[in-house]
Amino acid sequence: FRVDWDLMTAEKGGFDHFMLKEIHEQPKAYRDTMRGRISEDGKNVVLPELTTLTPETLKGINRVHIVACGTAMHAGLVGKTVIETLVRIPVETDVASEYRYRSPIITPETLVIVVSQSGETADTLAALREAQRCGAKVLAITNVVGSSVAREADDVIITLAGPEIAVASTKAYTSQLIAFYLFGLYWAQTTGSQTAEQIAHILAAMDSLPEQVERILSQADTIKTVAEDISKSSSLFFIGRGLDFAVALEGSLKLKEISYIHSEAYAAGELKHGTLALIEEGVPVIALLTQEDLYEKTLSNIKETKARGAHVLAIVNEGHEAEVAKSVDRQFAIPRTLQLLSPALSVVPLQLLSYYASLALGHDVDKPRNLAKSVTVE
Ligand code: G6P
Repeated sequence: FRVDWDLMTAEKGGFDHFMLKEIHEQPKAYRDTMRGRISEDGKNVVLPELTTLTPETLKGINRVHIVACGTAMHAGLVGKTVIETLVRIPVETDVASEYRYRSPIITPETLVIVVSQSGETADTLAALREAQRCGAKVLAITNVVGSSVAREADDVIITLAGPEIAVASTKAYTSQLIAFYLFGLYWAQTTGSQTAEQIAHILAAMDSLPEQVERILSQADTIKTVAEDISKSSSLFFIGRGLDFAVALEGSLKLKEISYIHSEAYAAGELKHGTLALIEEGVPVIALLTQEDLYEKTLSNIKETKARGAHVLAIVNEGHEAEVAKSVDRQFAIPRTLQLLSPALSVVPLQLLSYYASLALGHDVDKPRNLAKSVTVE
């Protein structure tokens, strides 16, 4: 027993929990997932692992379904915007337990992308099989070589996050985002939907992500203080528009999973159609404000919550702090990147927030109640 315990401590590499270790491993996971998949001159994506999805096959695809569960589904929500933006092909993202039973419209021209850290989630595997039965090609994005999903899919992009032990997924999610960026760019190259300059520009911005995450991690103490305050709340809201909404959903799930605090993620523009009724004095609102195209709109939604007494923490892009300060109580600035890439940065403070809130409440961070790392039964 003693030996096991020592072994576990060693495996945590000096961190108190696997989750914290895995959050800190993200710069490495980004680098590992990108390594060898970008040409030496930094201008092209190379994915030799795609043997079924040749440029020719990709040309015949007219719609995409992204199917997954939990955090992997949230990565798929970002994946939808990535592919629609870069390739201009319609994408739907669905939870696997819904998808498999709703008679989705799947044709041989449909590409189904299943996303699964473990590659063993029962509903995701069933969705994969249903898609193949209908004649679709299936691409798997998974972290486990040799998993069921990896073995059965037509093509596989392995995320190189390394083993993820904590039940709450962190580095697997962000590595899935990197996989979507790479695949979206690769596809755009083959169809010409983005110019060579645009692709090189995005790849250059991706190259900076690991170092930018390191900068966020170096400010973990700031988040810890906020998390200790938030841990005293019984309910809170995450808001954002566009990709910020996708990240809000993940931030809310992370917090629920390990702190057991009720939270809801809302598309910021939809608040006034109902949820605004729940905002009263002192209710914490975590607002994501990283999408430059939507900045003014989201800021005005933040003001609507503030006017009703919300206590707002904003995740903003560096440079906006002075202006945002007038409308929020607290803010955390993330380094500037392209707005398509910002989920790979903005989720990190939210992961830390959940971690420190759970810690403050004395919960078992790595093994939350009622949850399993991998759900292999329906
Ligand atoms: C479980 C885990 C989640 C995970 C989901 C999907 O519910 O607790 O963290 O996101 O399964 O797992 P997968 O291995 O398919 O990504």
